[in-house]
Amino acid sequence: MNPIRHFSKASAPAKVILFGEHFVVYKKPAILASIDRRVYVDVKVRNDDKFRITSNMGFHGLFDARKRKSLQSKPFRSLMQPILTAATDAMNEFHANVGLDINVRTEFPYGVGLGSSAACSVATIAAVGSLFGKLSKKKICGMSLNAEKLVHRNPSGADSAICTYGGLMLFSKDNEIERMNSKIDLQLIVANSGIQRTTGKLVSNVKHLLEEDPDMFRGLASLSESITMQALKAIKGKDYGELGGLMTLNHSLLRRLGVSINALDNLVEILLRNGALGAKMTGAGGGGCVVALTNKHSINKIIKSIKGYETFLSHIEYDGVVVE
Ligand code: MEV
Repeated sequence: MNPIRHFSKASAPAKVILFGEHFVVYKKPAILASIDRRVYVDVKVRNDDKFRITSNMGFHGLFDARKRKSLQSKPFRSLMQPILTAATDAMNEFHANVGLDINVRTEFPYGVGLGSSAACSVATIAAVGSLFGKLSKKKICGMSLNAEKLVHRNPSGADSAICTYGGLMLFSKDNEIERMNSKIDLQLIVANSGIQRTTGKLVSNVKHLLEEDPDMFRGLASLSESITMQALKAIKGKDYGELGGLMTLNHSLLRRLGVSINALDNLVEILLRNGALGAKMTGAGGGGCVVALTNKHSINKIIKSIKGYETFLSHIEYDGVVVE
């Protein structure tokens, strides 16, 4: 199929996991929110059959579209491969085959638990798809799993779902997604430890723990489920004090699981000491970010208390992926 336009642009939001990371891979529920920082993907049809990827994340490359083989230097290949897969999958959906210039620009740091890989895949699929026709959100979300499998073998699909649909969401692998439509506004402060890590390695560490001590793992998993379901009630009842307390409890659970590190524990402690209602690491752990829930009047004090780390206030965004 030939393109119906030669240029397109799409964007998808960053995410935080408020409850249930890791256990969501094993079919337990998780609560996620998309936040008001986005990845923008511009795509332009080329005159040849190559793919050129450029970004503001420090990586760029030229690829042979059919062989998915890098024709130029290979640093950051692991970051570009999911984008390449997302783009070729979107073209295959329309039986299309053209070369593309793909430019990725992110407003948030990557590789630190904020869903950069899922947001890149989702926005790339939406942008490339719109060169040829229209893809539903359901289709985009499903297709992005293929790219996410390159990040780690057994993705829960939670990151893809939140980056596609946006908002505040109860997610579990085998059930319908429950989107919370009340559009509540949570004041979320994100602090970045600056320590990059790979989700795949952390997910595989957790798998080893499950194999070594299945009873302990099952205990932690059912605790995670119960905290998540209590959090759902607290969100519905707008009981933010309770919600914050549950976030901090969830952090302790993730420490027990072995996915937190001192830098994250310290950040959580500073956030709590300075008035956060609750705080926890978010995403795979091993580095990356912590997220805190706060009242409006504590925002400045909390942000000032975090010295030497990138810290920002964020709000929930409800659009999800957008073709611009
Ligand atoms: C990573 O953002 C979230 C994990 O639960 C992995 C997944 O859900 O696939 C650690």
